[in-house]
Amino acid sequence: GKVRAPTHIISTISDERGEEPCYAGVPMSSIVEQGYGVGDVISLLWFKRSLPRYCTHFIEICIMLCADHGPCVSGAHNTIVTARAGKDLVSCLVSGLLTIGPRFGGAIDDAARYFKDAYDRGLTAYEFVEGMKKKGIRVPGIGHRIKRGDHRDNRVELLQQFARTHFPSVKYMEFAVQVETYTLTKANNLVLNVDGAIGSLFLDLLAGSGMFTKQEIDEIVQIGYLNGLFVLARSIGLIGHTFDQKRLKQPLYRHPWEDVLYTK
Ligand code: ACO
Ligand code: LMR
Repeated sequence: GKVRAPTHIISTISDERGEEPCYAGVPMSSIVEQGYGVGDVISLLWFKRSLPRYCTHFIEICIMLCADHGPCVSGAHNTIVTARAGKDLVSCLVSGLLTIGPRFGGAIDDAARYFKDAYDRGLTAYEFVEGMKKKGIRVPGIGHRIKRGDHRDNRVELLQQFARTHFPSVKYMEFAVQVETYTLTKANNLVLNVDGAIGSLFLDLLAGSGMFTKQEIDEIVQIGYLNGLFVLARSIGLIGHTFDQKRLKQPLYRHPWEDVLYTK
């Protein structure tokens, strides 16, 4: 028989060798003809399956809501400074992206990990938050620099409203809300933030859609797919900030002396 030379790469999400490229086995013509959106493409390339419309719509809402949050956040700030240093689009983009992490935009996976573990172990919100405090770990998905208990993050409310209407179950989200209710008794800025909302709601999406086995959900949470949503979304805004600075012909940025405490 034929002897197959061993390959150096294994790839399972796409194939461009035939008449037309396929994403997870779905040809490009079907993607276009069936009116698929970016949520469907993410489902195919990240999760290797077509998800129900309410799931792909939820993914698209996450992308739209996280696309930008003004010029003052870490990512946009870095991008603006880089654009003003005369750098190219990719440099401006990655400079902003590099700020995404445990404090800014990249707390979604950890929020999902901790909320899932606590809920599945039957912890109360009180036991969970106090347990985290004992370990000296800030609760991922809780806390915001400008949002408050009396000035909530509208993006969180929009995601919750959508899920309450369309998801079969929102048990992880309800747990996250109980956590928030408790943390708000400690300080007014300890709201459920957009990372925590997406992290908990994505658990509900994975568990409630009937499209994933328990092992697959564990793998998704353990590998950490969900920060990808913020990275992808915020790239849209960072690219916008790059164009904005270049359009405005902004000069090299230098931080004002008055805003630095020089001390020994
Ligand atoms: N869990 C428990 N306690 C907290 C948390 C939290 N998530 N956040 C703040 N606190 C408490 C701590 O006691 C903290 O004191 P410490 O510095 O001794 O730990 C105290 O509040 C003061 O915190 P602030 O100064 O109000 O918060 P800060 O502005 O430094 O941080 C931040 C804001 C980074 C968002 C923080 O709340 C945090 O780390 N949250 C967890 C990570 C997270 O979810 N990030 C995503 C934010 S949303 C986004 O970026 C799109
Ligand atoms: C964001 O979406 O960038 C934020 O929630 C962070 C911020 O401080 O506004």
